[in-house]
Parts: sequence; C-alpha cells; structure tokens
Amino acid sequence: MSGASLSTIDDETVERLIAGEQAAFAARHPKSHLLYAEGQKHYLYGAPSHWMRRWAGGFPIYVAEAQGAHIVDADGHDYVDFCLGDSGGMCGHGNPIIAEAVAEQMRAGATTMLPTEKSLWLGEELQRRFGLAYWGLTTSASDANRAAIRIARMVTGRPKILVFNGCYHGSVEEAHVALRDGQMVLRNNIHPNGLDHGTIARVVEFNDEEALRDALAPRDVAAVLAEPAMTNYGMISPASGFHETLRRLTRETGTLLILDETHTFSSGPGGYTKEHGLQPDLLTVGKAIAGGVPGAVYGMTEVVAERLWQIVPRVNPVIRQSAHLGFGGTLAGGALAVAAMCAVLKSVLTEVAFARMHGLAAELAAGARDAIAAHRLPWHVTEIGGRVECMFSPDPPRNATEVAAARHGGLETLLHVFFMNRGVLLTPFHNMVLMCPATAGADVQRHTVVLNEFAAWIAAEGAVTEG
Ligand SMILES: Cc1ncc(COP(=O)(O)O)c(C=O)c1O
Repeated sequence: MSGASLSTIDDETVERLIAGEQAAFAARHPKSHLLYAEGQKHYLYGAPSHWMRRWAGGFPIYVAEAQGAHIVDADGHDYVDFCLGDSGGMCGHGNPIIAEAVAEQMRAGATTMLPTEKSLWLGEELQRRFGLAYWGLTTSASDANRAAIRIARMVTGRPKILVFNGCYHGSVEEAHVALRDGQMVLRNNIHPNGLDHGTIARVVEFNDEEALRDALAPRDVAAVLAEPAMTNYGMISPASGFHETLRRLTRETGTLLILDETHTFSSGPGGYTKEHGLQPDLLTVGKAIAGGVPGAVYGMTEVVAERLWQIVPRVNPVIRQSAHLGFGGTLAGGALAVAAMCAVLKSVLTEVAFARMHGLAAELAAGARDAIAAHRLPWHVTEIGGRVECMFSPDPPRNATEVAAARHGGLETLLHVFFMNRGVLLTPFHNMVLMCPATAGADVQRHTVVLNEFAAWIAAEGAVTEG
C-alpha cells in the first residue's frame, strides 16, 4: 500500500490482530493467568483494585519485583515500565532513599496523631515549590481534591464545582460528569449514587472560553477544579491564553480555582503551575509526592486561608470540642507519609531529576515522531514535561470531544498488548508514557524500536485504508 494518506483502520483487521497478540500474551504468561483466575475467588473484580483488570492483555501481569524503571513479572519477563503505577511510581520503584526513610520512620512510629519535626521542613518546601501559603495532608489525591472542594464551598457558600469534559480527579462525585451533545451526563454511565449531579456540578469543554464564561456567569460555582494540562483522556494542552482567561473569569465571578497537579507534577519541581507561572487559589498533588506511600497534599493562598479561618478559627479554643472539619483523616499527615514526602522532595524528585526526565521525554517524543513520519501515519505526539503520548489523530485535540472523535479503542488495545509482548508497559487507559529518575536512555530506545515495529506492522498488514 502506498501509505500516502492513511487515516482509518479496518475494525475487523484490528480485532484479528488483537486476538493474535492476546493469544501470544496468554502463552507468555501462564503463571499470571493462573494467579488472576485464583484472584476471582477472593476479589470483587479479580484483583485487589478493580483498576488492575484494565490491561490490554486480557488479564494483568503479577509483579514479582519492581526496581527503578523496570518490573519483573511472575513468569520472569522484564518490562520497561512507562506506566509507573499511573504516576504513583514516578519516583522509580524500590528507590533506596525512600525505602530507608520509610523503614526508619516505621521503626520510630508510623502514626501518632501528633506532628513530627520533619513536618516543618515539608511545609516550607511545599510553600517554596508550589508558591501557596498554607498546606494540609490527606491520604490520597482523591481526598485532597475533596478537601479543596469542601473548603471552596465553605468559603464561597456556593454549591457547584465546574470541571472540564474528560477530566479525572479520582473518586470525586463532582467530577464524574461529562458532556454529551452539549448536555451534562454521568461519565462512562457511572452509577449516579443517589445524587442529582446537576445540583453539584457543571461541565464544559477544556479550552472553550465562551462556554466557561457562560457557566461561571450565574455565580453559583464555588470552584473550577482542573488539571492545568489534561492527562486523563488523552493528553490535551491548554491553548495559548486559556489559562489567563480561566484565571480572569474565575476572579471576575468570585469563583475559586483549584489546580490538580497529581499528574502534571511531572512538568517540574513545582508542577505545571510553577513552570508556567499560574496562580491557583488552591492546589492539590497526590500519588508520586509520597513516593508510593499513600499520601497527598492540598495548599491554598493566604487569602483563602483567612476566609476559612473566619469560619473555622485557626486556634482551637481551650475548651475541648469536636475537631471535625469534614476533611483529612486519621492517617493524614502521619509521620510515615511526612517522612516519605521529605525523602521524595529532598532527594528524589529534585530539579536535576526533572531536567533528566524531561530530556528523556523529549528524546522519546522525537523517536515517536520519526516513527510516525517514517511510516506516514496520521498520528501525532504530545509532550508535556516528563510525559509523552502518541495519539491516533493527525492534530493535537483541543478538548475531550475531539479526543473521542479521533479515538480508536481497538488500535489502542492492540498497541498496548503489542508493547507488552515486547517488554514495554504503557499507562493502560490511553497511550501515555512517563519518565522517572531511573529511566535510562536504553529504555527510551526500546520504546522507539517497538513503536517503529508497531507502525511498520500496521502498514505492512495492509490494515490501513486511505482517507
Ligand atoms: C489528576 C488526578 N487527580 C486525582 C487522581 C486520584 O488519585 P488517587 O486515586 O490516588 O486518589 C488521579 C488519578 O488518576 C488523577 O489523575
């Protein structure tokens, strides 16, 4: 085939190729296959988390050991890991500095409902890195977002949270919404959980300034909750000027701006926010920040903190009273998570590490662009800091609807299982790859080799038709 203008792919051929690759995967992984079958006896969805069944091989590999940027599975296969626990492993697996800090703190007491002196360094470092004045800790990014939302509602007295179509912010009710034909619906037909989401949420397309202006105009939105660049539905970069408009409109309407840096932390030591000089009212970061120990942080400006203190005074009265604020939790801010975060921010996710990760991401992106060009495929590559994604459309999408229109689920599944059969793990939900400080040049080259093989294979199969 000429390959002059390749735009669509035949579904039947893709199904046939997936079946072949999944059969090869099953043959390569008898032990993992067996373990997953065993897991069905004990676990609701076969494994400890329902997310673990979402791998393209048809069942997950069982991990024997994870070190640096590599995983060895129960069948003895080695993988370059570009998924990195969907960012929870962005420090690299088994990092000895974090392991030592965690082991030491475990021996010195993991959780006491009292602060440790280490927490002071952490608070100062969070201020320095992300530029927000006051901080609190939670046990997950979902929980940090819930805390930020609760605070936003408390200080504004408004009911709604605005999110962008295609977002994911964890198990946050307000973010389980999407746009379909201009109407708000529950994302992926998720169960409504007895709630009327229309009373708590509003959703517009990312990069749509007009829709944003209209949605904020009634002044019933407590906060916009957004990733500064979207990473959960295909990577979507903010259009030029979008962040300026977002900040101006939120300020004009008395709406708070919460930036969720849980994934975009990979953009630099102070996340995308610091890299691009953004000015959120609140900011959340989870996953990698505690090096794999459950933990997350939420920060806010002095102004937001002052407004919160008017509702819940900063200094507790001497009289003993309930300390319920409706956010945080028993293990939040415990000594173990604090020790892990100190190790991560002091010694692992340093400026030097980010510079290296970004260099490798650029190298991987260049290799992917070359592969696409060499095989004349109508695909493109998005690169944001330490993250890269090869997407099956010629142009970068501006919003989730454009992603959905160009998405080819079958081709994505095929790419994933193809890569797994050749020793490379990608983030299972789309084609995103992530660097960690332990990622090596050889790991990046492996990705390039396999992507070239994949691109050549697709063309050689004649599975691509002219558009
Ligand atoms: C941007 C963002 N925020 C929050 C979360 C929730 O993180 P967790 O599941 O650790 O609570 C995720 C998870 O993927 C995420 O991508």
